[in-house]
This record gives sequence, C-alpha cells and structure tokens, in this order.
Amino acid sequence: TQIRHIVQNMPKAELHIHIEGSLEPELIFALAQRNGVQLSYPSVDALRAAYAFTDLQSFLDIYYAGASVLLKEQDFYDMTAAYLARAKADHVRHTEIFFDPQTHTSRGVPIGDVINGIHRACADSDVSATLILCFLRHLSEEDALATLEAALPYRDRFIGVGLDSSEVGHPPEKFTRVFARARELGLHLVAHAGEEGPPEYIWSALDVLHVERIDHGVRCLEDAVLTRRLAAEKIALTVCPLSNIKLRVFDHMSEHNLLTLLDAGLVVTINSDDPAYFGGYLNENYLATFDSLPLGLQHAHELAKNGFAASFLPAEQKQKFL
Ligand code: HPA
Ligand code: ZN
Repeated sequence: TQIRHIVQNMPKAELHIHIEGSLEPELIFALAQRNGVQLSYPSVDALRAAYAFTDLQSFLDIYYAGASVLLKEQDFYDMTAAYLARAKADHVRHTEIFFDPQTHTSRGVPIGDVINGIHRACADSDVSATLILCFLRHLSEEDALATLEAALPYRDRFIGVGLDSSEVGHPPEKFTRVFARARELGLHLVAHAGEEGPPEYIWSALDVLHVERIDHGVRCLEDAVLTRRLAAEKIALTVCPLSNIKLRVFDHMSEHNLLTLLDAGLVVTINSDDPAYFGGYLNENYLATFDSLPLGLQHAHELAKNGFAASFLPAEQKQKFL
C-alpha cells in the first residue's frame, strides 16, 4: 500500500540499536569457525530456534552467548559493516550505535580493538554513524568506572554513554558517579529505563543521571505526572516495537502503547534494538507498527522527524534532515 511504501522509503534515523544485537546467526557461526570458538548450538537453525524469549533476561542470556564469538578487531568491523549495509537498505541516514565493551573486555578482548573495529566500519560507511558506549547494569559501578577510564584514549570515537542489560533490581542511581564523570567529560547521556522497570527508574534516570533521552520508556504512561514532564521537556523515548513484542512487554502489536505515547505529546522514535534477535531491522519495525496500529501519514512523518530531532547531531547537520 501507499503508506507502507512511504514508510519504507522515507529517510530515517536510528537511535537505539545494540551493535551486538545485529549479529545474525550466520555471522555468529562464521566467526565461531574463524576464531575456533565452540558454540553450544550445533547449527544456525538450532541457534535461531532458541530465539523464543519470555522476558528481557531470557534474551540477554542468548545475546551474550552470541557475542562470545567476537574476538578480533576485524570481527567488530565485519559485524558493524553488515549492520550499516542493512540500515542503508532501510533508508537510515543517521544512526547512533550502542556497544557493550564489558561484554568483550571480560573475555580478554582489548577495549581498543572493540572501539577501533566498530569505528572503522562507521568511517567506511556512507551512513552517518556515531557511537554510544553502554555500561552493563548487572555489573558494579566500579566496573563501569574502570571501563570509562579505559575508553578515554578513544574519547573522540564515541559521543555518549548509556546503560543497558538487566533492568529490574539495577536502578539508574546505582550508576550516579560514572554518569557524573561522563557528564564532566562532555559526553551525551542516555539510559534504558521503563522497559521492564517501573516509572521510578525513568524519574531517577532524569533527575539523578541527567540523561537526555530515555531508551524504551514505554512504562512512563503508568505515571501521569512523569508523562507530562517528558512531554513538556521534549525528552525523547527510543521505542523498539518488535523488541517489546518479543520480550513480552506487550502481548501483541495491536496492544502497543506507541500511539498513546504520541497522543500524549511525547517525542516518540521507532528503533530496532537488537534486529538480528527480534525479527527485523528499522523498516520492519516501522511496518509492523503501522500494520497493527491506526497510524497515518502524519504519524509517519512525525516519527521520522523525531528521530533526527532527538539525535545528537550538531544543529547544522540536524537541520539538513528536518
Ligand atoms: N534492554 C536492556 N539491555 C539490552 C537490550 C534491551 O532491550 N538489548 C540489548 N541489551
Ligand atoms: Zn536496548
């Protein structure tokens, strides 16, 4: 139909994509072979069959297993180059890519190999791409602080920091000092909050960590005061529709609250989160949303515009996309 065609072809930004979540099963097996890593799944099909998640943690367990094949700088390059090619095919013009250094440094991979491999693929792509270093919230704040310090020789290769992994039980305020340090360094700040965790985690991401965007944030609607604040301050939510269905945040796309969020005046963006695991890249996320919710052409343009407006591009570059 006309609207599907427009949604697919319009220029878009992506603000919530974990590069390790773009690792397709075929590439996982190719890298396992190349690096001599033993996987606990006998085949690509067996691995794919394990992608039946019941919640965030059941996904994270498999996501970390998949990432275990990444050892060399070239592995990070190949993974990132593959994502950027897919993003380009979906008419993504700008992407802000999350990466999880602790997932790799804990296996003995030098942080410089992680950052340089991802960065080199970005530099070789004609898609505009910047990097956001994420801390794993199930690990200690001391580990996060050490990770940030270890990344400082590569300070010019990432624009911000984020917070991901197991949300419930690991509130934003656990990371007060490392976010304060990142802020002093002039880095942009984001955090996952309100995906599985309560609205209180969104409040503390804003008021304790001082983040500029909320990743996911869909549970904000449980708190009317919070919802009005997010709207008034134009704090963008990086919503990931297919992720929310696969991780059972909502039972069905027709029950997703994305349109309610838009109607509440929030700056909503659509993103793929972990496209290799959740059944699609950016266009599939847009199409699945538009197929199940009563969204029109105005919404399509608003969502795409929000992606660029909420990006961390410098004002003059942003202007070119708006
Ligand atoms: N939530 C938290 N951590 C993550 C996610 C997510 O959706 N994807 C990759 N790490
Ligand atoms: Zn995420």
